[in-house]
Formats: sequence, C-alpha cells, structure tokens
Amino acid sequence: MPADSILKHVVVFCLVLSVALTSARAEPGYSSKSTAESVSFRNGMVVSEEQIATLVGLSVLKEGGNAVDAAVAVGFALAVTHPRAGNLGGGGFMLVHLGETGRTVAIDYREKAPLKATRNMFLDENGEVDMERARHSVYSSGVPGTAAGLSLALEKYGTMPLEKVLAPAIRLAEEGFAVTPELRKSLLGAKGRMKKSSESTEVFFKNNGEPPREGEILRQKNLAWSLKEISKNGSGAFYRGAIAKKITAYMKKEGGLITERDLASYEALIREPVTGNYRGYSIHSMPPPSSGGVHLIQMLNILERYPLSRYGHNSARYIHILSETMKLAYADRSKYLGDPDFSPVPTEHLISKQYAKRLANRINPQKATPSRYVKPGSPVPVGGTDTTHFTVADRFGNVVSNTYTLNFAYGSGLAVPGTGILLNNEMDDFSAKPGVPNAYGLIGGEKNSIGPGKRMLSSMTPTIVFKDEKLFLATGSPGGSRIITSVLQVILNVIDHKMSIREATAAPRIHHQWLPDTLYVERKAEKDLEAGLRKKGYEVKRTGPMGSTQSVARISGLFYGATDPRHPGGLAQGY
Ligand code: GLY
Repeated sequence: MPADSILKHVVVFCLVLSVALTSARAEPGYSSKSTAESVSFRNGMVVSEEQIATLVGLSVLKEGGNAVDAAVAVGFALAVTHPRAGNLGGGGFMLVHLGETGRTVAIDYREKAPLKATRNMFLDENGEVDMERARHSVYSSGVPGTAAGLSLALEKYGTMPLEKVLAPAIRLAEEGFAVTPELRKSLLGAKGRMKKSSESTEVFFKNNGEPPREGEILRQKNLAWSLKEISKNGSGAFYRGAIAKKITAYMKKEGGLITERDLASYEALIREPVTGNYRGYSIHSMPPPSSGGVHLIQMLNILERYPLSRYGHNSARYIHILSETMKLAYADRSKYLGDPDFSPVPTEHLISKQYAKRLANRINPQKATPSRYVKPGSPVPVGGTDTTHFTVADRFGNVVSNTYTLNFAYGSGLAVPGTGILLNNEMDDFSAKPGVPNAYGLIGGEKNSIGPGKRMLSSMTPTIVFKDEKLFLATGSPGGSRIITSVLQVILNVIDHKMSIREATAAPRIHHQWLPDTLYVERKAEKDLEAGLRKKGYEVKRTGPMGSTQSVARISGLFYGATDPRHPGGLAQGY
C-alpha cells in the first residue's frame, strides 16, 4: 500500500470536509439540550482536537491499517497541525485495547527528569519556587517521550511501517496547511513566551512579529526534517542520532540539563492498566505515573454508593456529592501519588471498594466539608493548558485512547534550533517544594519530589470502558488537574444519566480539587445553581470551559464519536 494513497485520501477528505462536518463535527458553542446523537459508523472512528489529524487517521483506517496505525499517524500529524499540544518534544500515555486477544495495555511515554536534575533545582536563594525557571526556561523540560512511545506502539501493536504512518505528517510539515482561527489565537496567546526562542519565532511568527493569519499556509521545514529523520532511522534518530545531536548541542549552549546519556537511556514502558468496576461496566485507565486512572476509579467507587441518577444531572445535591468525592481524591493525590519506579504507590488500596466505603462515610450528605479539614486518607490499612487527547477505534475490535502533551500550550515556548521541535515544560508537574502548588494549583508531596531519571506525576486519564467485555466508551481529555474530573463526568453522564456521547460531552462540568477550596462550575451551567451550593457551604466560582474530551462510544456494534464543542476545530469522523 503506497504511502501516497493515504495522502490522496487526506486531500479528498479535506475536499468533502464541509459535508462531513455537518454530520459529525462539533457545533460552535455548546448546550446540554441537544438530543441528537452523532451519526454512527460501522467500520471505525477517529476523534481528535484537530480536523486534518482526524482525517489522516481515518485515511489510515480506510487503507486497512488498524487503530494503532491510525493513532500513531494522528499523533505525528498533531505535532504538525496542533503544535500547542501535539508534539515530538513532550510525552504522554496511550491505552491500547487489542481486539484479537481482549488484552488492554498501557504505554507510558511520560517525560523523565534529566539525570542532572536535583530536588531543589527550582528554588531561589530564599527557598521560594522560581516559577519562571520551572515553567519557561531550558530547565523546564523533561526528557521527551513521544517519539519512543509512538514508535513502540506501532512496533508492538501496529501493522504498518513507521515510514507510512509518518508520511502524512511529513507532507503537512513540508507543504504546509492553512492556519485555523484556533491556531492563530493560541499563537497570539503564547507569543510572549515563544519570542524568547529564535526557532519558535522563525517557525511560528512572520517578519512583522505576528503569527500567520487565518488561511495563510504554515510550513515547518525543520520539523519536516526531524520527522524524516525518524521515518528513515526510527526513534533512534531522536534519542541517539541526528536529532539527539541538535537537542544536546542546544542544551550545552543554553546551560540546560538534558545530555546524550539522558536521551540514549530514555525508554517508553508498557504497564498494566489500572482497572475497576462501576455499576457493571469495566473501567480501564492509566496507572501511575499518571494519577488519572487511580483517582478516576477511586471516585467512581465512592460515587457508586449514591443513586446519582435520582439526584438529577447537575442538581445541587448531585454536585455536592461529586465535589466532596473530588476533594477526597485530590487530597490523596497530594500524598500518595508519584513515579512508582521510585517509591511504591498504594494503587490497590486507593482503588479498593472498602477504602471507597470508608471515604464515603466521611462525606456529610448535607454540607460541604471545608478542605482544611479534608486530609489525605489512609488507604493502606493502618498504616491550561494544554494537552490533547485522541481516540481511535477500528472494525477489528482495537481501540486506542491517547493523551499527550507539552504541558502548557507550546510547552516552555522554547524550540530546539534546526528541528522545529518545541520543548515541554513538564518539570513543573513535579512538586518543586512541598505545599507550593504547581501551575494547576496542585499540591504535591514527597513522592512527587524532583529526582534524577524520575517521571513527574500526571493527571492524564486515557480511559476505555467495557460492557460485557466489549467497547462501550473510550475517552480522555486535556485540562491539567481538570482532566480526571472531566473524564469522570463524561462516564457518569453516559452511565448514570443515560446521555448520548454528544450530550455527555457538551453537558456543563464542575470541578473541585481539594485545594484551593473552590467549587468551579462552568458558566454554561444553570444560572440558579449557586444559591443551593452556597447553602451547602461551597465557595462557587464560575469558570470558562473545562476539559476537551474526545470520545468514541459503541452501541449495538456502531461507533459514535464526539469531539468537545468547548474547543472548536476538532472532528469526530468515522466511515
Ligand atoms: N501536564 C499535565 C499533566 O500531565 O497532568
């Protein structure tokens, strides 16, 4: 199968895009009132935050590739067309369900702290966290994992050669694509940070200092070079070859920490997913070093003890139980979660039904418990952002649920000269100092302190839900600390509130993360919610959109997709 035929499909698909979008893309603005289910498809489905990338994945499926081939192609394409989060210079997590064996595996390609990283590297002379150094400097980057993770997924579970799945991304980088309003807007937002880097400035800004206008063609020649290197030489090009040389030369020049040894020793890992049961549905999600799966299952276990459907979606009573549950989970996150390769995480206890029962007993059914009184529990007996998610399902029963990131939009804003590769600022996901929140307001503990070669704790929650061992729902989201609660609410909306996947995606969300002691409610939620919630003791803060879930549901053998209308530009498309 020539790689060119995949490209032809993408071109043809772009031409029919306007037709496709009327059926399956997100409507601008969102409303929980919509009752229409998206159009269903029999053979496969791709959902991502960026339309061209979705079409690249769909072409791979139509060429006979499986969900993993398509997901890897989407992952590389997003590095070109959705540069604020799609990446080569970041990392992430991929859940793969294999139709043939019924097995689900978790691929961990999270960034790692460089070997020269030290526990207090982000503290200034007064012992305070230097936010600029932690978030926007050459020290902000962990050793990237994306090239290793996508290659490992393809090698183990795909059917196509790397060269073929990379071809669309290379062509998009080389020949360019029309800038969307979303891309321009995000570049304007990150301009200040990106201007510190000559490579970022050259690639993403014109001579007049402005990002390209909507409709102008963005070409990324250096990124095309990097992608071609990976196409020719595999991910070794990134970790030991020509790209590695450019990364380490940049680090040496700027005084950064990433060395040849860091890159050469980086490995993506295959881990066992964390699993649970919720009202007869089987939940598979990401284990540590993401906190996502553990706390998703922990919260579902607590919530299973309440008749949520009777409370009614987003009623004050419902939001109260959800918020108290979220507080308990995020309090535990601050103490027990970190890289399991460095110190043990009590996953089994945190996701046990017994522990959930004990935690549920701590919830006052009438009143909010102030967060200062909510301490992490004892699971052991006595004892912004910008990330992106995509989901792919094929007719062979394979499913991929993948979340990856640079951390902030465009990461640190710095790019490696000559490569077009933006660098993550994931080091800020470590706890730079106990008790001091990171960019998402998350407090971390000893387990998530900085250590050489250690993976920083994440909230990414790529998840697959099965009913009777068959795919029921696959989902995930960007959103920093809000990822876990966004995924939670999509699952609750579908299972408890019987919403279609589109309704479940669009329905207004809430979020509580223990600290700060604030209940965030999306502006779109019912106007009169506050009074009831304040009476229960909540400090309620209205907020803009939270999360951007990209989901595939399967009902009676048919695929339904939903891209999150909170962020226009995505596409759910099947065939
Ligand atoms: N960088 C956001 C996360 O991994 O949770």
